[in-house]
Amino acid sequence: MEPSWLEDAVFYEIYPQSFQDSNDDGIGDLQGIIRRLDYVAELGCNALWINPCFDSPFMDAGYDVRDYKQVAPRYGTNADLVQLFGEAHSRGIRVLLDLVPGHTSDQHPWFRESAKADPNEYSGRYIWTDDAFRGMEGRPYIAGMTERAGAYLLNFFASQPALNYGWLDPRKPWMSAADSPEALATREAIKDVMRFWLDLGCDGFRVDMADSLVKDDDERKSATSAIWRDIRSMLDRDYPEAVLASEWSNPALALCGAGFHMDFYLDHHHNGYNTLLRDYETEGGDHSYFRRDAGGDIRRFLQDYLPKYEQSRECGYISMITCNHDTPRPARTLSPAELKLAYAFILTMPGVPFIYYGDEIGMRYLDLRTKEGGYQRTGSRTPMQWSRAGNRGFSNAPSDQIYLPVDALEGAPCVEEQLADADSLLSEVRRLTALRHAHEDLQADAPFAVINDDEADAPFVYRRGGMLLAVNPSSQEKRYEGELLLGKELVYRIGEAAVACGCLMMPEQSFAMLA
Ligand code: NOJ
Repeated sequence: MEPSWLEDAVFYEIYPQSFQDSNDDGIGDLQGIIRRLDYVAELGCNALWINPCFDSPFMDAGYDVRDYKQVAPRYGTNADLVQLFGEAHSRGIRVLLDLVPGHTSDQHPWFRESAKADPNEYSGRYIWTDDAFRGMEGRPYIAGMTERAGAYLLNFFASQPALNYGWLDPRKPWMSAADSPEALATREAIKDVMRFWLDLGCDGFRVDMADSLVKDDDERKSATSAIWRDIRSMLDRDYPEAVLASEWSNPALALCGAGFHMDFYLDHHHNGYNTLLRDYETEGGDHSYFRRDAGGDIRRFLQDYLPKYEQSRECGYISMITCNHDTPRPARTLSPAELKLAYAFILTMPGVPFIYYGDEIGMRYLDLRTKEGGYQRTGSRTPMQWSRAGNRGFSNAPSDQIYLPVDALEGAPCVEEQLADADSLLSEVRRLTALRHAHEDLQADAPFAVINDDEADAPFVYRRGGMLLAVNPSSQEKRYEGELLLGKELVYRIGEAAVACGCLMMPEQSFAMLA
């Protein structure tokens, strides 16, 4: 599948506020990311996704963009971002920016213009009714704040008005059609933003709320998908190496319908991904598959995942994530030993995996007050823990002036210590990414098949191309016998997995890779 660099891509997501401060103002910045690129390369990640780093009032951590073409001063300048592209590329690392096409900040100049009573070029850029009193058909809106007589539609928080890509069925006079001049102008404006950054050297975009463009779109999201296909054809024609990753979590629609290269498999209550790491909101305790004593069952994951994989494998890639900036870190409930197995699984699945900064050392989810619209997500957004130095090496600013508190726990994990320990989670992740790069059968395209998912006394066994993998996160020993083992040797293991007399022995908490 094209572009071919995705085949061997392992992404690293960076929340720029919290990665590395380079100018001692207490907040992470682009020069800080540049300083840590060698770390990213040595981790085995050859691509980055950077959360929004554009000018913003930060009511939603930057997902409320005020100027799509300007780096937020707290992160640096456009020249710093261009330097970052160059420094990353020289290390073989690609860089995706975060595109927020569904809404802007209410401080964006487009919105300010559109809120004026006198009609102007931006009057149709957002979704407005023609009456300030009649609401918006049950959808979230704001009225009474503007000179313009009308209510405007929100796409997320109160400061994020929805951009106008039209309605599938424009049944009110104030609704635009998806092919109306104003809806097409919005699309062209977003394409212009994309071209701006692609021309400066970025390698594509993670797309926020990619399914949210056309309102009242049908089940298949046909009108929204048509927009993305148009954008994809622009990439194919003018930027064939650039890629798009969707926040959609519906690979059949996002990959086959809309033409995204990758679609995130997100943590949604009770979906397959949720059952792996975070199934602790069900009654009766934690049933997460990777919890040693939870009695988890891989079949709950497979029931959800396999149809999605089968439907979309010819179109693009499902992206498994360790976490993201919206999701509780996996270390909230999983121990380092459990995380090793979970990451071994994520990093040996088809598609394109993403590691969220800090998960590779098992950073904890902290119970914190909200910051910049984070609310309960704030606990997954704390500063990266580099060392035992002040502020864990994140910043030289006084501790009470840093963006969010660092994890103050005495033994909180840090990079420096884990690099020196061959048995650490970080060392494990580095070995796993290296294995993925070394074996084509572990990369994005090699076929995936379930060999054994009978949980009783056998491990979960799966095939990638010609390789066989097995995982047993439980506290019971399991074993697997089968002719597929013939002629295969153990090439990697976690725990005490062993092959003896044609049988794969998988003691508690083990992982095996055979080739
Ligand atoms: C999804 C982003 O991941 C999240 O952080 C943000 O708050 C919303 N979209 C709104 O843009």
